[in-house]
Parts: sequence; C-alpha cells; structure tokens
Amino acid sequence: MTAEKAGFDHFMLKEINEQPKAYRDTMRGRISEDGRSVALPELKITAEQLKGINRVHIVACGTALHAGLVGKNVIESLVRIPVETDVASEYRYRSPIITPDTLVIVVSQSGETADTLAALREAQRCGARVLAITNVVGSSVAREADDVIITLAGPEIAVASTKAYSSQLIAFFLFGLYWAQVVGKQDEAAVSHVLSAMQALPEQVEKILAQAEVLKEVAESISHHSSLFFIGRGVDYAVAMEGSLKLKEISYIHSEAYAAGELKHGTLALIEEGTPVIALLTQEELYEKMLSNIKETKARGADVLGIVNEGHESEIAKSVDRYFSIPRTLPLLTPALSVIPLQLISYYASLALGHDVDKPRNLAKSVTVE
Ligand code: AGP
Repeated sequence: MTAEKAGFDHFMLKEINEQPKAYRDTMRGRISEDGRSVALPELKITAEQLKGINRVHIVACGTALHAGLVGKNVIESLVRIPVETDVASEYRYRSPIITPDTLVIVVSQSGETADTLAALREAQRCGARVLAITNVVGSSVAREADDVIITLAGPEIAVASTKAYSSQLIAFFLFGLYWAQVVGKQDEAAVSHVLSAMQALPEQVEKILAQAEVLKEVAESISHHSSLFFIGRGVDYAVAMEGSLKLKEISYIHSEAYAAGELKHGTLALIEEGTPVIALLTQEELYEKMLSNIKETKARGADVLGIVNEGHESEIAKSVDRYFSIPRTLPLLTPALSVIPLQLISYYASLALGHDVDKPRNLAKSVTVE
C-alpha cells in the first residue's frame, strides 16, 4: 500500500496533491484547441432539448452535494435557469416538482451511493432527464443516467473526498459553459474568457500546495479547540460547508458553516474568546460585507483566519489574526482554489490529533445503504 501512496504519508495527502493533474485531465479534450468553446461529445442531450429545460435539480450527498451547491451558482449565473439543490436522502420523500422539462443532475464520486441512485430512479420515473457527474465509468449511476460526464480525478481511496470534489467543480464549469454556449446565453468572447481562467487553475493550485507548511501551523492551533466556524458569502458559503464537513469527518472537531450575514441571527451567541473562525473572502463584491461580519466575530473575541485573494494581504492583516492568500481567478471559479487550503487544514488537524486520516471512524468510502 505504501508504494501506492507515491511517497506521501496518506492517500488523502496524495489525492490533495493530485488535484492539478485531476483538473488538467478533466479539462483535456473538452476545450477546443483555440480555447473558445467546450465540447462534450459524450452528452446525448441535444441543443434543442437543452433549450427546452426550464428548471434544474442537483441531487447528491455529502461532499458531492457541496460541489452541487457551487454548480447551482455556475448554472444560474451562466445559463440563467433556476436551480434547486437537494440532499439525495430527502429528495424522493418530499414529492419534488419534476416535469419533463426538468434536468436532474446527480453528482457522485463512486456512482454507487444508494440515496443518490434512488433519487436518480425517482427523477426518471417522474419523466425527468438525468445527467450524472461521476468519477467511476461503469458505476450504477453512470449506467442508469441518460447522460454522463466523467470526472477524471483517478481512483480516490481516502474516505475524505478531495480531488473528486474539485474535479466535480471543473465538470460543472464545463457543463455550464457548454449549455450557455449551445443555447446562446454566453457569447464566444465570454466563454473563452472563462476557459482561459480555467486553464490557469492547475498551476494556481500548485502555488497553494507549495504553501502547505503555513496551513500546518494553522491546523495545529485549531486542533486544540472543540468547536469552530467557517463563514462566507455566495460561493464562499458553499466552500465553507465543504471545509466544515471535511474537518468534522477526519479531525472529529465540531464545526459549523454559516452564511456570514446570518451569524447575527443567532449563531454569534456561540462566539467567545478564542473561538476559531475561518472566513472566506474571495468574492470581491462581497468583500466589505465580509469585513463587517468578521468585525462582529472579532468584537466577541474570535480568532480569525481570513482566506483572501492575492493583493488583499496588507489590508486584511488589519482585520484578522492570520490570513492565507490564494491566486486570483474569476469569482465563479474561486471554489476550485479556496477549497485547497481547507482540505490541507483538515488533513493537518487530523494528523496533529493522531487520527486515522484515511479511514475515519464510523464512515465508509461509499455508502451503499439508504
Ligand atoms: C466526503 O468526504 C464524504 N466521505 C462523503 O460526504 C461523500 O462525499 C458522500 O458519501 C457521497 O459519496 P459519493 O460522491 O461517492 O456519492
């Protein structure tokens, strides 16, 4: 097994480090040579059928659902079609409004998650077309869906999903752009602008990975606490949820993810002297709002780590206890970068606490029971 870890101490660390490759592999062959359009020849859904879709449901579990929350932002922003996201284990029990004009997108690394599979079947029973985003060719989800986009993250062994999540984000960016382009919602210039930013992501991830040691220190200080908060707005909130799940899953430290503006409606009562808060501030138009939310937590004694875009360092240093900066990309693409420091913080916190990073207690890699 050691050889398979390619010199890394754990599969999780290996898989975190494989993300630049996973991004390149998932994009390869799907972006035209001139970088101006997306090609997804694997899709059977026609341009005419895509034009007829008037609502989208994204259904998944855990980390895959968190990728779907980013996917909602991507599709709504690029295609301007309303998107709902749902927990797969809830979906089929709440009589969702599914019509033949609904596209249901199921997201699953393994393609074998029982709740996701049951949601897929329910959607098809109600007449919807189902698109699967999965990492496993030939999995149940891949076989049963009407359309499939395979993420090329490679096998993911660690229970905590990392490269599968981030590759799912790439799949959503590609699909959102493809859809927008075939129905004429984005022109060629807009599509190529996003595509060129996407092609820069692998190198940008490498820059973040090179700073892993900084995050190790942060993780070690967090590991002494029993509870912490992740806050963000817009897609940063979706990433905050993923950061919180990852930390709980492998470090067993309680954490909650909050839409930063929602803190003052109750949760702020839990912030006390020394409570760690990880604040994501990658959305420039929400930056000032985030600063005031951070102030609210600082006033109650929070110990805040700010995750910011490059260029904000000197300014954010005045408002937080520590910061970590990530390379700049388009606002919609930031989750593909901002999740990396959160994955590393979880990994190092689990390591500092002496837990089994790759096989956390009570959890299975693929949940095949409902
Ligand atoms: C991720 O770290 C978790 N282990 C878990 O939430 C996982 O994402 C979920 O069980 C869904 O799995 P799937 O992607 O294989 O369907």
